[in-house]
Amino acid sequence: MTKKKTFYVCDNCGYESPKWFGKCPVCSEWNTAKEIKIDESNRKANEQHSAVLLLDDASKIENNKRLSTQYEELDTLLGGGIVSGQVILLGGEPGVGKSTLALQLSEKLSSFGSVLYVSGEESVAQIGLRSNRLNISKKNIYVTTENEIGSLLMTVRKHNPVFVIFDSVQTIYSNSVDGVPGGVLQIRTVVEKIRRFSKDSGIPTLLIAHVNKEGNIAGPKLVEHIVDTVIYFEGEKTTDLRILRVLKNRFGPSGEIAVFQMLSSGLKELKDMIFVEDSNMPGNVVASLFEGTRPILIQVQSLVSRDRIATARRISHGIDVRKIIILAAVISKHLNLPIDSHDIYVNVSGGLKITDPACDLAIASSILSSLFNRFLGEMVLIGEVGLDGSVRKVPNLKKRIENAKKAGYEKIIIPYDNINSEGIIKIKTLKDLYNFIIED
Ligand SMILES: Nc1ncnc2c1ncn2[C@@H]1O[C@H](COP(=O)(O)OP(=O)(O)O)[C@@H](O)[C@H]1O
Ligand SMILES: [Mg+2]
Repeated sequence: MTKKKTFYVCDNCGYESPKWFGKCPVCSEWNTAKEIKIDESNRKANEQHSAVLLLDDASKIENNKRLSTQYEELDTLLGGGIVSGQVILLGGEPGVGKSTLALQLSEKLSSFGSVLYVSGEESVAQIGLRSNRLNISKKNIYVTTENEIGSLLMTVRKHNPVFVIFDSVQTIYSNSVDGVPGGVLQIRTVVEKIRRFSKDSGIPTLLIAHVNKEGNIAGPKLVEHIVDTVIYFEGEKTTDLRILRVLKNRFGPSGEIAVFQMLSSGLKELKDMIFVEDSNMPGNVVASLFEGTRPILIQVQSLVSRDRIATARRISHGIDVRKIIILAAVISKHLNLPIDSHDIYVNVSGGLKITDPACDLAIASSILSSLFNRFLGEMVLIGEVGLDGSVRKVPNLKKRIENAKKAGYEKIIIPYDNINSEGIIKIKTLKDLYNFIIED
Protein backbone atom coordinates (compact mmCIF):
# COMPACT_ATOMS: atom_id res chain seq x y z
CA MET A 1 0.00 0.00 0.00
CA THR A 2 1.29 3.44 -0.84
CA LYS A 3 1.12 5.82 2.05
CA LYS A 4 0.56 9.43 1.11
CA LYS A 5 1.16 12.52 3.15
CA THR A 6 -1.08 15.44 2.28
CA PHE A 7 -0.43 19.12 2.88
CA TYR A 8 -1.51 22.44 1.42
CA VAL A 9 0.53 25.14 -0.26
CA CYS A 10 -0.58 28.69 -1.03
CA ASP A 11 -0.40 29.13 -4.79
CA ASN A 12 0.38 32.80 -4.34
CA CYS A 13 3.15 32.97 -1.76
CA GLY A 14 4.16 29.39 -1.07
CA TYR A 15 2.94 29.23 2.55
CA GLU A 16 2.64 25.61 3.67
CA SER A 17 0.16 24.11 6.10
CA PRO A 18 -0.86 20.58 7.07
CA LYS A 19 -4.48 21.86 7.13
CA TRP A 20 -6.59 23.38 4.38
CA PHE A 21 -7.04 27.16 4.63
CA GLY A 22 -9.55 29.50 2.99
CA LYS A 23 -7.51 32.66 3.39
CA CYS A 24 -3.74 32.49 3.41
CA PRO A 25 -2.44 33.73 6.80
CA VAL A 26 0.71 35.07 5.15
CA CYS A 27 -0.37 36.86 1.98
CA SER A 28 -4.10 37.18 2.82
CA GLU A 29 -5.22 35.85 -0.58
CA TRP A 30 -8.40 33.78 -0.70
CA ASN A 31 -8.81 30.30 -2.22
CA THR A 32 -5.15 29.78 -2.98
CA ALA A 33 -4.65 26.55 -1.02
CA LYS A 34 -3.48 23.75 -3.30
CA GLU A 35 -3.38 20.17 -2.10
CA ILE A 36 -0.05 18.36 -2.41
CA LYS A 37 0.45 14.65 -1.86
CA ILE A 38 3.88 13.22 -1.17
CA ASP A 39 4.38 9.51 -1.51
CA GLU A 40 5.81 8.51 1.87
CA SER A 41 6.46 4.92 0.83
CA ASN A 42 8.74 6.20 -1.94
CA ARG A 43 10.51 8.49 0.42
CA LYS A 44 11.14 5.60 2.85
CA ALA A 45 12.50 3.49 0.02
CA ASN A 46 14.84 6.32 -0.96
CA GLU A 47 16.03 6.72 2.59
CA GLN A 48 16.97 3.06 2.80
CA HIS A 49 19.43 3.61 -0.03
CA SER A 50 21.22 6.41 1.69
CA ALA A 51 24.77 5.48 2.55
CA VAL A 52 26.82 6.32 5.60
CA LEU A 53 30.08 8.02 4.73
CA LEU A 54 33.15 8.91 6.72
CA LEU A 55 33.35 12.71 6.96
CA ASP A 56 37.00 12.57 5.91
CA ASP A 57 35.99 10.88 2.63
CA ALA A 58 33.00 13.14 2.21
CA SER A 59 35.21 16.21 2.54
CA LYS A 60 37.25 15.12 -0.47
CA ILE A 61 34.35 14.63 -2.84
CA GLU A 62 33.29 18.08 -3.92
CA ASN A 63 36.42 20.07 -4.55
CA ASN A 64 37.94 17.50 -6.86
CA LYS A 65 35.06 17.79 -9.22
CA ARG A 66 34.78 21.46 -9.90
CA LEU A 67 34.20 22.27 -13.56
CA SER A 68 35.86 25.46 -14.68
CA THR A 69 33.54 27.83 -16.55
CA GLN A 70 36.69 29.13 -18.22
CA TYR A 71 35.60 32.59 -17.25
CA GLU A 72 38.08 33.59 -14.57
CA GLU A 73 35.71 35.99 -12.84
CA LEU A 74 32.80 33.58 -12.99
CA ASP A 75 34.91 30.80 -11.48
CA THR A 76 35.92 33.11 -8.65
CA LEU A 77 32.30 34.10 -8.19
CA LEU A 78 31.33 30.45 -7.83
CA GLY A 79 34.10 29.75 -5.33
CA GLY A 80 36.30 27.92 -7.86
CA GLY A 81 34.01 26.56 -10.56
CA ILE A 82 30.90 24.39 -10.73
CA VAL A 83 30.52 21.53 -8.26
CA SER A 84 29.14 18.16 -9.30
CA GLY A 85 25.36 18.10 -8.85
CA GLN A 86 25.21 21.83 -8.12
CA VAL A 87 21.90 23.58 -8.79
CA ILE A 88 22.39 27.23 -9.67
CA LEU A 89 19.59 29.74 -9.95
CA LEU A 90 20.23 32.72 -12.22
CA GLY A 91 17.70 35.49 -11.73
CA GLY A 92 17.37 38.81 -13.47
CA GLU A 93 15.05 41.18 -15.26
CA PRO A 94 14.03 40.39 -18.83
CA GLY A 95 16.64 41.62 -21.31
CA VAL A 96 19.53 41.82 -18.86
CA GLY A 97 21.41 39.02 -20.63
CA LYS A 98 20.60 35.74 -18.87
CA SER A 99 20.12 33.70 -22.05
CA THR A 100 23.22 35.25 -23.58
CA LEU A 101 25.32 34.28 -20.57
CA ALA A 102 23.81 30.80 -20.54
CA LEU A 103 24.67 30.22 -24.19
CA GLN A 104 28.22 31.51 -23.76
CA LEU A 105 28.59 29.28 -20.71
CA SER A 106 27.28 26.32 -22.74
CA GLU A 107 30.06 26.84 -25.23
CA LYS A 108 32.72 26.87 -22.54
CA LEU A 109 31.36 23.80 -20.75
CA SER A 110 30.89 21.91 -24.00
CA SER A 111 34.64 21.39 -24.02
CA PHE A 112 34.04 18.82 -21.24
CA GLY A 113 31.16 16.97 -22.97
CA SER A 114 27.69 17.68 -24.25
CA VAL A 115 25.60 20.52 -22.84
CA LEU A 116 21.82 20.49 -23.02
CA TYR A 117 19.99 23.79 -23.42
CA VAL A 118 16.30 23.55 -22.58
CA SER A 119 14.57 26.55 -24.08
CA GLY A 120 11.02 27.27 -23.05
CA GLU A 121 11.28 30.94 -23.94
CA GLU A 122 12.70 30.94 -27.42
CA SER A 123 12.45 28.68 -30.45
CA VAL A 124 15.37 26.54 -31.56
CA ALA A 125 15.72 28.87 -34.55
CA GLN A 126 16.05 31.93 -32.30
CA ILE A 127 18.78 30.25 -30.27
CA GLY A 128 20.48 29.29 -33.52
CA LEU A 129 20.45 32.93 -34.59
CA ARG A 130 21.87 34.07 -31.29
CA SER A 131 24.61 31.44 -31.44
CA ASN A 132 25.56 32.80 -34.88
CA ARG A 133 25.63 36.36 -33.63
CA LEU A 134 27.74 35.37 -30.61
CA ASN A 135 29.94 33.24 -32.82
CA ILE A 136 29.49 30.23 -30.58
CA SER A 137 31.05 26.92 -31.49
CA LYS A 138 27.98 24.70 -31.78
CA LYS A 139 29.60 21.33 -31.43
CA ASN A 140 28.39 19.47 -28.37
CA ILE A 141 25.51 21.84 -27.57
CA TYR A 142 22.04 20.32 -27.81
CA VAL A 143 18.81 22.32 -27.76
CA THR A 144 15.29 21.24 -26.89
CA THR A 145 12.00 23.08 -26.47
CA GLU A 146 10.33 20.21 -24.62
CA ASN A 147 8.84 21.65 -21.45
CA GLU A 148 7.33 18.88 -19.33
CA ILE A 149 9.84 18.13 -16.60
CA GLY A 150 9.17 14.38 -16.39
CA SER A 151 9.96 13.67 -20.03
CA LEU A 152 12.68 16.32 -20.03
CA LEU A 153 14.57 14.57 -17.27
CA MET A 154 14.25 11.29 -19.17
CA THR A 155 15.81 13.01 -22.19
CA VAL A 156 18.57 14.40 -20.01
CA ARG A 157 19.33 10.94 -18.57
CA LYS A 158 19.57 9.52 -22.07
CA HIS A 159 21.95 12.24 -23.24
CA ASN A 160 24.01 12.25 -20.06
CA PRO A 161 25.37 15.80 -20.56
CA VAL A 162 27.93 17.54 -18.38
CA PHE A 163 25.60 20.49 -17.80
CA VAL A 164 21.93 21.34 -18.30
CA ILE A 165 20.35 24.79 -18.65
CA PHE A 166 16.65 25.41 -18.08
CA ASP A 167 15.71 28.71 -19.70
CA SER A 168 13.47 29.60 -17.98
CA VAL A 169 12.24 27.62 -15.05
CA GLN A 170 8.94 29.53 -15.29
CA THR A 171 8.21 27.93 -18.67
CA ILE A 172 8.75 24.34 -17.50
CA TYR A 173 5.82 22.45 -15.97
CA SER A 174 5.15 19.14 -14.32
CA ASN A 175 2.12 17.05 -15.25
CA SER A 176 2.16 15.48 -11.80
CA VAL A 177 0.67 18.61 -10.19
CA ASP A 178 -2.01 21.16 -11.07
CA GLY A 179 -1.49 24.81 -11.78
CA VAL A 180 -0.24 26.91 -14.65
CA PRO A 181 3.46 26.95 -15.61
CA GLY A 182 5.14 29.73 -13.67
CA GLY A 183 2.73 29.39 -10.74
CA VAL A 184 4.08 28.77 -7.28
CA LEU A 185 3.06 25.13 -7.15
CA GLN A 186 4.50 24.35 -10.57
CA ILE A 187 7.81 26.14 -10.04
CA ARG A 188 8.28 24.49 -6.69
CA THR A 189 7.61 21.05 -8.07
CA VAL A 190 9.79 21.58 -11.14
CA VAL A 191 12.73 22.96 -9.15
CA GLU A 192 12.44 20.19 -6.58
CA LYS A 193 12.49 17.55 -9.34
CA ILE A 194 15.51 19.15 -10.96
CA ARG A 195 17.29 19.36 -7.63
CA ARG A 196 16.68 15.69 -6.95
CA PHE A 197 17.83 14.83 -10.46
CA SER A 198 21.04 16.86 -10.10
CA LYS A 199 21.86 15.34 -6.73
CA ASP A 200 21.21 11.77 -7.94
CA SER A 201 23.05 12.09 -11.25
CA GLY A 202 25.78 14.54 -10.24
CA ILE A 203 24.92 16.61 -13.33
CA PRO A 204 25.00 20.32 -12.46
CA THR A 205 22.11 22.47 -13.63
CA LEU A 206 21.47 26.14 -14.27
CA LEU A 207 17.94 27.39 -13.70
CA ILE A 208 17.14 30.72 -15.25
CA ALA A 209 14.35 32.73 -13.66
CA HIS A 210 12.80 36.09 -14.41
CA VAL A 211 12.31 38.36 -11.51
CA ASN A 212 9.12 40.29 -11.02
CA LYS A 213 8.84 43.99 -10.23
CA GLU A 214 9.78 43.53 -6.59
CA GLY A 215 12.97 41.76 -7.63
CA ASN A 216 11.76 38.43 -6.32
CA ILE A 217 11.76 35.30 -8.38
CA ALA A 218 8.05 34.59 -8.92
CA GLY A 219 6.80 32.92 -5.77
CA PRO A 220 8.61 34.97 -3.16
CA LYS A 221 11.95 33.40 -2.29
CA LEU A 222 10.25 30.13 -3.03
CA VAL A 223 12.97 28.38 -4.93
CA GLU A 224 15.96 30.13 -3.43
CA HIS A 225 16.14 27.74 -0.49
CA ILE A 226 15.83 24.65 -2.68
CA VAL A 227 18.85 25.44 -4.86
CA ASP A 228 22.53 25.49 -3.86
CA THR A 229 23.46 28.81 -5.37
CA VAL A 230 21.52 31.96 -6.15
CA ILE A 231 22.98 34.48 -8.56
CA TYR A 232 21.38 37.70 -9.74
CA PHE A 233 22.21 39.46 -12.95
CA GLU A 234 21.89 43.22 -12.61
CA GLY A 235 22.30 46.05 -15.03
CA GLU A 236 20.87 49.36 -16.06
CA LYS A 237 19.21 49.52 -19.47
CA THR A 238 21.17 52.71 -20.16
CA THR A 239 24.65 51.24 -19.79
CA ASP A 240 26.40 48.15 -21.05
CA LEU A 241 27.74 47.05 -17.66
CA ARG A 242 26.23 43.88 -16.21
CA ILE A 243 26.89 42.66 -12.70
CA LEU A 244 26.53 39.09 -11.49
CA ARG A 245 26.05 38.95 -7.76
CA VAL A 246 25.98 35.81 -5.59
CA LEU A 247 23.24 35.99 -2.97
CA LYS A 248 23.71 32.50 -1.63
CA ASN A 249 26.22 29.74 -2.25
CA ARG A 250 26.54 26.43 -0.47
CA PHE A 251 29.89 25.91 -2.22
CA GLY A 252 31.56 29.28 -1.90
CA PRO A 253 31.36 32.79 -0.54
CA SER A 254 28.29 34.94 -1.03
CA GLY A 255 28.27 38.64 -1.83
CA GLU A 256 30.95 38.19 -4.50
CA ILE A 257 30.43 39.92 -7.84
CA ALA A 258 31.65 39.56 -11.42
CA VAL A 259 31.32 42.34 -13.96
CA PHE A 260 30.58 41.92 -17.66
CA GLN A 261 30.14 44.25 -20.57
CA MET A 262 27.26 43.60 -22.97
CA LEU A 263 28.49 43.91 -26.55
CA SER A 264 26.75 42.88 -29.76
CA SER A 265 29.22 39.98 -29.84
CA GLY A 266 28.08 38.93 -26.37
CA LEU A 267 29.12 39.35 -22.77
CA LYS A 268 32.74 40.21 -22.11
CA GLU A 269 34.30 39.66 -18.72
CA LEU A 270 35.84 42.76 -17.14
CA LYS A 271 38.77 41.69 -15.03
CA ASP A 272 40.16 44.90 -13.63
CA MET A 273 37.50 46.46 -11.48
CA ILE A 274 38.16 50.04 -12.50
CA PHE A 275 35.28 52.10 -13.78
CA VAL A 276 36.97 55.44 -14.08
CA GLU A 277 37.28 57.56 -17.19
CA ASP A 278 40.20 59.90 -17.53
CA SER A 279 38.96 63.32 -16.59
CA ASN A 280 40.41 66.37 -14.97
CA MET A 281 37.17 68.31 -14.94
CA PRO A 282 35.91 69.76 -11.66
CA GLY A 283 33.39 67.54 -9.91
CA ASN A 284 35.08 64.27 -10.87
CA VAL A 285 36.59 62.20 -8.06
CA VAL A 286 37.49 58.55 -7.60
CA ALA A 287 36.02 56.40 -4.82
CA SER A 288 36.75 52.89 -3.61
CA LEU A 289 33.60 50.80 -3.48
CA PHE A 290 33.79 47.43 -1.74
CA GLU A 291 31.68 44.62 -3.17
CA GLY A 292 31.95 41.04 -1.97
CA THR A 293 35.61 40.53 -1.26
CA ARG A 294 36.99 43.11 -3.66
CA PRO A 295 37.36 46.85 -3.99
CA ILE A 296 36.20 48.56 -7.18
CA LEU A 297 37.36 51.98 -8.29
CA ILE A 298 34.50 54.14 -9.45
CA GLN A 299 34.00 57.71 -10.47
CA VAL A 300 31.62 60.06 -8.71
CA GLN A 301 30.59 63.17 -10.61
CA SER A 302 28.84 66.22 -9.22
CA LEU A 303 27.45 69.38 -10.62
CA VAL A 304 26.74 72.13 -8.14
CA SER A 305 24.92 74.95 -9.84
CA ARG A 306 24.75 78.59 -8.87
CA ASP A 307 22.53 80.11 -6.22
CA ARG A 308 18.83 79.87 -6.76
CA ILE A 309 16.01 81.74 -5.18
CA ALA A 310 13.68 78.75 -5.27
CA THR A 311 14.18 75.64 -3.12
CA ALA A 312 17.47 73.95 -3.99
CA ARG A 313 17.28 70.57 -5.73
CA ARG A 314 19.27 67.44 -4.96
CA ILE A 315 19.19 64.80 -7.68
CA SER A 316 21.32 61.68 -7.77
CA HIS A 317 21.84 58.63 -9.91
CA GLY A 318 23.42 55.54 -8.38
CA ILE A 319 23.31 56.97 -4.85
CA ASP A 320 20.35 57.31 -2.51
CA VAL A 321 19.37 60.97 -2.74
CA ARG A 322 19.04 61.09 1.07
CA LYS A 323 22.79 60.54 1.25
CA ILE A 324 23.30 63.66 -0.89
CA ILE A 325 20.93 65.69 1.29
CA ILE A 326 22.79 64.62 4.44
CA LEU A 327 26.27 65.24 3.01
CA ALA A 328 25.18 68.65 1.72
CA ALA A 329 23.87 69.51 5.18
CA VAL A 330 27.15 68.36 6.79
CA ILE A 331 29.16 70.49 4.33
CA SER A 332 26.91 73.48 4.96
CA LYS A 333 27.14 73.20 8.74
CA HIS A 334 30.74 72.17 9.34
CA LEU A 335 32.46 74.04 6.50
CA ASN A 336 30.07 76.96 6.71
CA LEU A 337 29.58 76.98 2.95
CA PRO A 338 26.40 78.40 1.38
CA ILE A 339 25.48 75.14 -0.29
CA ASP A 340 21.87 75.10 0.96
CA SER A 341 20.87 77.41 -1.84
CA HIS A 342 22.67 75.49 -4.61
CA ASP A 343 21.27 72.73 -6.78
CA ILE A 344 23.31 69.53 -6.50
CA TYR A 345 23.35 66.73 -9.08
CA VAL A 346 25.43 63.61 -8.43
CA ASN A 347 26.10 60.68 -10.71
CA VAL A 348 28.04 57.40 -10.45
CA SER A 349 29.95 56.00 -13.44
CA GLY A 350 28.84 52.95 -15.34
CA GLY A 351 25.36 52.66 -13.84
CA LEU A 352 26.85 51.27 -10.63
CA LYS A 353 25.08 51.77 -7.34
CA ILE A 354 26.77 53.01 -4.17
CA THR A 355 25.60 51.94 -0.75
CA ASP A 356 29.08 51.60 0.77
CA PRO A 357 29.50 54.40 3.36
CA ALA A 358 33.23 54.42 2.58
CA CYS A 359 32.32 56.44 -0.53
CA ASP A 360 30.96 59.35 1.57
CA LEU A 361 34.24 61.24 1.50
CA ALA A 362 34.49 60.94 -2.27
CA ILE A 363 30.91 62.13 -2.73
CA ALA A 364 31.48 65.11 -0.42
CA SER A 365 34.73 65.92 -2.25
CA SER A 366 33.02 65.70 -5.59
CA ILE A 367 30.43 68.24 -4.43
CA LEU A 368 33.18 70.54 -3.11
CA SER A 369 35.18 70.13 -6.29
CA SER A 370 32.24 71.27 -8.39
CA LEU A 371 31.33 74.05 -5.96
CA PHE A 372 34.86 75.51 -6.15
CA ASN A 373 35.09 74.65 -9.84
CA ARG A 374 38.45 72.97 -9.21
CA PHE A 375 39.71 69.54 -10.12
CA LEU A 376 41.19 68.01 -6.95
CA GLY A 377 43.84 65.98 -8.74
CA GLU A 378 44.43 62.33 -9.51
CA MET A 379 43.59 60.66 -6.22
CA VAL A 380 41.31 58.17 -4.50
CA LEU A 381 39.24 59.24 -1.51
CA ILE A 382 38.20 56.71 1.11
CA GLY A 383 36.19 57.38 4.27
CA GLU A 384 32.81 57.65 5.89
CA VAL A 385 31.55 61.10 6.82
CA GLY A 386 29.78 61.49 10.17
CA LEU A 387 27.06 64.01 10.93
CA ASP A 388 29.57 65.77 13.20
CA GLY A 389 31.84 66.41 10.21
CA SER A 390 34.30 63.69 11.22
CA VAL A 391 35.87 61.35 8.70
CA ARG A 392 35.49 57.85 10.02
CA LYS A 393 37.32 54.59 9.57
CA VAL A 394 35.97 52.04 7.13
CA PRO A 395 36.34 48.27 6.76
CA ASN A 396 38.91 46.75 4.40
CA LEU A 397 41.01 49.91 4.28
CA LYS A 398 44.25 48.05 3.49
CA LYS A 399 42.73 46.22 0.52
CA ARG A 400 41.27 49.46 -0.81
CA ILE A 401 44.64 51.22 -0.58
CA GLU A 402 46.44 48.33 -2.30
CA ASN A 403 43.85 48.30 -5.05
CA ALA A 404 44.14 52.07 -5.61
CA LYS A 405 47.94 51.86 -5.75
CA LYS A 406 47.79 48.94 -8.15
CA ALA A 407 45.63 51.07 -10.42
CA GLY A 408 48.37 53.70 -10.41
CA TYR A 409 46.99 56.26 -7.96
CA GLU A 410 49.79 57.85 -5.99
CA LYS A 411 47.68 60.02 -3.74
CA ILE A 412 45.12 58.41 -1.45
CA ILE A 413 43.13 60.26 1.19
CA ILE A 414 42.01 58.10 4.10
CA PRO A 415 40.54 58.46 7.60
CA TYR A 416 43.08 58.85 10.42
CA ASP A 417 44.67 55.47 11.01
CA ASN A 418 48.01 53.93 11.87
CA ILE A 419 48.66 52.98 8.26
CA ASN A 420 51.77 54.71 6.95
CA SER A 421 52.87 54.54 3.39
CA GLU A 422 53.87 56.81 0.60
CA GLY A 423 51.18 59.01 -0.89
CA ILE A 424 48.75 58.43 1.99
CA ILE A 425 47.11 61.54 3.36
CA LYS A 426 45.26 61.05 6.63
CA ILE A 427 42.44 63.31 7.65
CA LYS A 428 40.22 63.47 10.73
CA THR A 429 37.50 65.84 9.63
CA LEU A 430 35.87 67.35 6.60
CA LYS A 431 37.58 70.57 7.64
CA ASP A 432 40.96 68.84 7.09
CA LEU A 433 39.80 67.90 3.62
CA TYR A 434 38.74 71.47 2.96
CA ASN A 435 42.13 72.81 4.10
CA PHE A 436 43.85 70.26 1.91
CA ILE A 437 41.81 71.36 -1.12
CA ILE A 438 42.35 75.06 -0.42
CA GLU A 439 46.11 74.93 0.10
CA ASP A 440 46.91 72.35 -2.55
N1 LIG B 1 21.12 41.80 -32.36
C1 LIG B 1 21.63 42.25 -31.25
N2 LIG B 1 22.73 43.01 -31.24
C2 LIG B 1 23.27 43.45 -30.09
N3 LIG B 1 22.79 43.17 -28.89
C3 LIG B 1 21.72 42.40 -28.81
C4 LIG B 1 21.08 41.90 -29.96
N4 LIG B 1 20.05 41.17 -29.55
C5 LIG B 1 20.04 41.23 -28.22
N5 LIG B 1 21.04 41.97 -27.76
C6 LIG B 1 21.38 42.27 -26.37
O1 LIG B 1 21.04 41.16 -25.59
C7 LIG B 1 20.11 41.53 -24.60
C8 LIG B 1 19.09 40.44 -24.39
O2 LIG B 1 19.77 39.44 -23.76
P1 LIG B 1 19.08 38.09 -23.34
O3 LIG B 1 20.22 37.19 -23.05
O4 LIG B 1 18.06 37.67 -24.32
O5 LIG B 1 18.35 38.56 -22.01
P2 LIG B 1 17.44 37.72 -21.02
O6 LIG B 1 17.59 36.29 -21.36
O7 LIG B 1 17.96 38.10 -19.68
O8 LIG B 1 16.04 38.23 -21.22
C9 LIG B 1 19.47 42.79 -25.07
O9 LIG B 1 19.02 43.59 -24.02
C10 LIG B 1 20.59 43.41 -25.85
O10 LIG B 1 21.42 44.14 -24.97
MG1 LIG C 1 16.17 34.93 -22.07
